[in-house]
Amino acid sequence: MPMRVIAVAGARPNFMKVAPLLWEIQGRDDIDAFLVHTGQHYDERMSQLFFDELRIPKPDANLEVGSGSHAVQTAEVMRRFEPIVESQRPDAVVVVGDVNSTLACALVAAKLGVPVAHVEAGLRSGDESMPEEINRRLTDALSRWLFVSEPSGLVNLRKENVPEERLFYVGNVMIDTLHACRERCQSSPILETLSVETKKYAVLTLHRPANVDEPEVFERMLAAIARLQREIPIVFPVHPRTRRALVEALPRGLPRLILTEPLGYLDFLKLVSHARLVLTDSGGVQEETTVLGVPCLTLRDNTERPVTVTHGTNCLVGRDPDRILSAALSALGSPSIGARQPDKWDGEAAQRIIDVLTAGRIAKPSNRKTMGAKERLSA
Ligand code: UD1
Ligand code: UDP
Repeated sequence: MPMRVIAVAGARPNFMKVAPLLWEIQGRDDIDAFLVHTGQHYDERMSQLFFDELRIPKPDANLEVGSGSHAVQTAEVMRRFEPIVESQRPDAVVVVGDVNSTLACALVAAKLGVPVAHVEAGLRSGDESMPEEINRRLTDALSRWLFVSEPSGLVNLRKENVPEERLFYVGNVMIDTLHACRERCQSSPILETLSVETKKYAVLTLHRPANVDEPEVFERMLAAIARLQREIPIVFPVHPRTRRALVEALPRGLPRLILTEPLGYLDFLKLVSHARLVLTDSGGVQEETTVLGVPCLTLRDNTERPVTVTHGTNCLVGRDPDRILSAALSALGSPSIGARQPDKWDGEAAQRIIDVLTAGRIAKPSNRKTMGAKERLSA
């Protein structure tokens, strides 16, 4: 009998993480997946677009929870996920990342006695004011398999006395997706659409509540952006959380700040890979710029992904407008920094994860995957 898992995805960054796991599972006969979309993100450009571009199978169930306060959203996911686990009776529930859907589904599974696999375990910013930090700690505490993406994750989990047999350093599934799409994204017309030229523009993303929900903080950041756009055009795909605040806070007369809807993965990857500089508060974008070798300024005081600073192109610059501007000008005036690839960010993380999950099942080498992720996407 193949192993049966429920895989969970709910918000934008989950889709890039779950895709390579599902590609791997599709190519094997020792494991089957039932895909649950919680519906935490639901706009076409925050959800369906990624299913189409990344050829993620249609979810077997969509919980359609939508938006709400943390308690409401988490509780709704739990309420709607529980009957699915009860009826499917899976061998494991696989959750990715650190969003509310991640914690909600891990909690339901653990209470029903179903072992939880957490992909991207062990990341810690040390900042308890971030909702994600709470989600990470609690999900890790509930998990039987902790799949770690960067060395700091192992250090953190050992400090928390997690038993060694639960820890698996497997690399980064989000980077599996990047490798699978790096060539394919080059045919995106996004640079022409936005009238920007390679290495002559910057990209900005902002969606952390600590940055965009406080009008005063957000306005100060936008003041730095207003000054920077005089030096270089800045493309700013606006996250839905940020949209409303932006209408209030955006200064007038910024001809070189190019606002767009949230972009699809292929457009965004192409845009970032040709950018001169990226400014962001995203978790995933810090990792992607490291692999692409594009300088990245993170507009936060901390990161749960320190390998992007020690090995990659990432620099933490905080929220102070003068500091943001001087770091950006200095990055624009310096030659591009070389980045070292973190260990096992090689496109094979999903395969390692599924190998661990299915270990102990009868090994069938002849039935192992015959197609790589890239071939699967272009098949
Ligand atoms: C969530 C995650 C965050 C992650 C981010 C990725 C939590 C606590 N936060 O933050 O860790 O980095 O996703 O993008 O899980 N909205 C729409 N359309 C949508 C989705 C959201 O308009 O499709 C709007 C709603 O007004 C909603 C707001 O965005 O209230 C915030 O959405 P929510 O999922 O609660 O949090 P994010 O800020 O997206
Ligand atoms: N991304 C995208 N379109 C955009 C902005 C981001 O496809 O307009 C991708 C990005 O390449 C990365 C993921 O979304 O793969 C990161 O998601 P997000 O920043 O929403 O969440 P976080 O990583 O901060 O949790």
